[in-house]
Amino acid sequence: MKRLYSLSLMIIFLSLCSFSQMIDNEDLVISHGPYLQNLDESGVTIIWTTSKPAVPGVSLTCPDGKTRFIRNSHDGIIDGGGLLHKVRVEGLEAGTTYQYSINSVQILKYQAYRIYYGDTINQKPVSFTTLNPKAEKINFTVINDVHEYSGKLASYIRNGNPSAQDFFIFNGDMVNYVQSPDQLFTGFIDTAVAYFAGNRAFFYARGNHEARGCAGREFKNYFDFRDNRFYYSFDHGPVRFVFLDCGEDKPDDNRYYYGLADYDSYRLEQLEWLKKEVKSDAFRKAEYRIVIVHMPILNESSREHGMKFLSDNFEPVLKTAKINLMLSGHTHRNSFHAKGEAGQAYPVLVNSHNSFVEVYVDKEKIRTVVRDVNGEQIAEYEFR
Ligand SMILES: [Fe+2]
Repeated sequence: MKRLYSLSLMIIFLSLCSFSQMIDNEDLVISHGPYLQNLDESGVTIIWTTSKPAVPGVSLTCPDGKTRFIRNSHDGIIDGGGLLHKVRVEGLEAGTTYQYSINSVQILKYQAYRIYYGDTINQKPVSFTTLNPKAEKINFTVINDVHEYSGKLASYIRNGNPSAQDFFIFNGDMVNYVQSPDQLFTGFIDTAVAYFAGNRAFFYARGNHEARGCAGREFKNYFDFRDNRFYYSFDHGPVRFVFLDCGEDKPDDNRYYYGLADYDSYRLEQLEWLKKEVKSDAFRKAEYRIVIVHMPILNESSREHGMKFLSDNFEPVLKTAKINLMLSGHTHRNSFHAKGEAGQAYPVLVNSHNSFVEVYVDKEKIRTVVRDVNGEQIAEYEFR
């Protein structure tokens, strides 16, 4: 009798386990995000992940109260079926605030002639504001060399003023390497989402560490870069922003790259793009030109191949381009190189791995404030 009782208890326990597992397996949750990418004056890309395969959509509310529902498609097929979702929203007005909420419809079974849908999740609406090339004043925060210390990133953001920023710039080496895409989330994306990334975009300049590890090849999938390149430009307020991709720091034949590095030819390809960029109307007519690049481009001898390559090849193009400011990291030291001081024709502000930079721009000047992890001011520079 006692044995029968124990057996019954065991069956009930196993049934409960398998039932809860079944429920858990069927639960659809937003696992990461949403975060804004590739924001410009007329569009934005919203990225998030779900725990189960889903069809993503975005419900957008315009300032006049009109709503529209957006799903993207490629080659005639609505995007969906995976865990990583990207929805591009176009046709927006510059400098305008919109509300959006993400919509995820679970796919339980995807067959050739029958698709079974499960749960639907609608997240509560949040707002974002498009870039505005006509804005008279702008401000943004630059963070670099976080190297997966997400707690430090949280301190930077908390001790800055996230709700007052137009956007954030992550200027490279946010992770040590990318062996699994999860590192991107735990390393910095989840923290960015917790503080601002659902309603303020971050723009990314790749550092040398992001390229390391087997999942570094999937890096672009988790973001949205303008023209799908790590080097790009855009306008906001009186500034033309030019983002450059510094590449790796060591020579391509360094033994740690195991024959898989081809950065010199990639950098030369980027250089051709830069030559066209500095001749463009948008670049030449801008009030200010700010270059964002992880490794500083100084016209001085350097121990590292990557920095020397940039100095030898990119500095000659930049020196006649009337650059107002270059913002960099990589050295893990705070330093400021006034125009001409290190042989280069533009000021370079290098931010350390223990500080962040607030940048304020108006018609009069560019003002930069370097702050430590507690938000205490370390230095201030103005460029008129
Ligand atoms: Fe670096």
